[in-house]
Amino acid sequence: MSQVRSAYTDNLNFYGSYTPCELAATYGTPLYVYNENLLRERCRDLLNLSRHPGFGVNYSVKANTNPVLLKIIREEGLVVDAMSPGELYLDKLSGFQSSEILYISNNNSESELKNALAHNLLISVDSLSQLDTLGRLNRHGKVMVRFNPGIGAGHHAKVITAGKETKFGITPDKTDGVIALLQHHHLTLAGINQHIGSLFMESDGYLNAAQILLHLAEALPDNIFAQLELIDFGGGFGIPYHKYEKKPRLDLIELGRRLHAMLNSWSEKSGYQGRFLIEPGRYIVAECGILLGRVHAVKNNGDKRYVGTDLGFNVLVRPAMYDSFHDVEIYRPSDRRGSNTAPMLQTIVGNICESGDILAKNRLLPVIEEEDVLGILDAGAYGFVMASHYNQRCLPAEVLIRHDGTTDLIRRRETLEDLARCFDSRASNEQS
Ligand code: LLP
Repeated sequence: MSQVRSAYTDNLNFYGSYTPCELAATYGTPLYVYNENLLRERCRDLLNLSRHPGFGVNYSVKANTNPVLLKIIREEGLVVDAMSPGELYLDKLSGFQSSEILYISNNNSESELKNALAHNLLISVDSLSQLDTLGRLNRHGKVMVRFNPGIGAGHHAKVITAGKETKFGITPDKTDGVIALLQHHHLTLAGINQHIGSLFMESDGYLNAAQILLHLAEALPDNIFAQLELIDFGGGFGIPYHKYEKKPRLDLIELGRRLHAMLNSWSEKSGYQGRFLIEPGRYIVAECGILLGRVHAVKNNGDKRYVGTDLGFNVLVRPAMYDSFHDVEIYRPSDRRGSNTAPMLQTIVGNICESGDILAKNRLLPVIEEEDVLGILDAGAYGFVMASHYNQRCLPAEVLIRHDGTTDLIRRRETLEDLARCFDSRASNEQS
């Protein structure tokens, strides 16, 4: 096999006993491929941030909910969140017990809250009105409240979830309102949480926000503070998407050292004996996932070279939605000789009928040819879970490279029949 641009995955032995071209031929494309070893490694990176006895990692499953991956994450000792009945269902399907699931959602209907209560989950509410609703449904019960610490972070305005310009959380000036509702409904404040946004590469903002949450906890009336079991600082831990430019990683040694010191000194000072959680999604699953696709056409329009693939924004929406960068590898079987021309600027697009269907714009890459297989790196988080049926394309398959290099199909490719699954029988009977 000749890999035109594959140094990053070669170095990791990402594809185990197979080549990406073999995987594409066996399972078809588009195909999400995950690597078990990397997934476990990322779980351990974060579990090792602190040895404080109350410290734990709450994987935010919105980044990827494949049950086989969730089972591995559970084996590694992480707990999970859920923010919808669907996530809760998949958490349970993957073996998580209610005590291992936090319901951290927003703007729930009463029936969704009742569903979470029926599962005995601790629910985080992020408005006074949801606190009131939950109080009515669960008098004398426990609740968790999501605060907005006033500091936001993130790679794009669409993923900053704290500060003034966001729908999330209760601002600290409303704490009296929270306390009044707790008393009114005889609720116990069992936890407080926050999430400032997605993708930070420097620790300062996250740690400052964590400190604000701790101050807020301390400022609670003694009888309420005494009942607090859980403080959750949220997720947002970033990964470097520019793999071939060797952009630095988030410095977990420094982050861990500072976080650990903060947790130790604060619990000593405050007497708190409960749990501390972080809530990462992306960091756990992004790098263990690569999206494989095939090149079906190449052309020049004006002075631009377009590489046409089966990787539309129905399969990976991040570039179209946030202008996100994903590095690209190029694979070609050795019995197919490629051109020897120098690298050139190329724009990689999908097969969706919209001009915004662009995966990678003006990239300087070795010349890509028809039938090449492309590997879109760091696609494990917010990849498959954000895929859609737009243009009535079927959802892709997912494959796991096991620790011994073998593969498991962990989600089959959808079929055309799957597209008709939810129509009532009249739709299919019309013609008969
Ligand atoms: N906790 C809460 C309450 C969240 O809303 C999120 C992400 C997380 C934890 C995990 O954040 P992470 O560690 O993954 O940054 N689709 C976007 C990211 C949206 C994040 C939404 N909330 C993307 O593709 O970049």
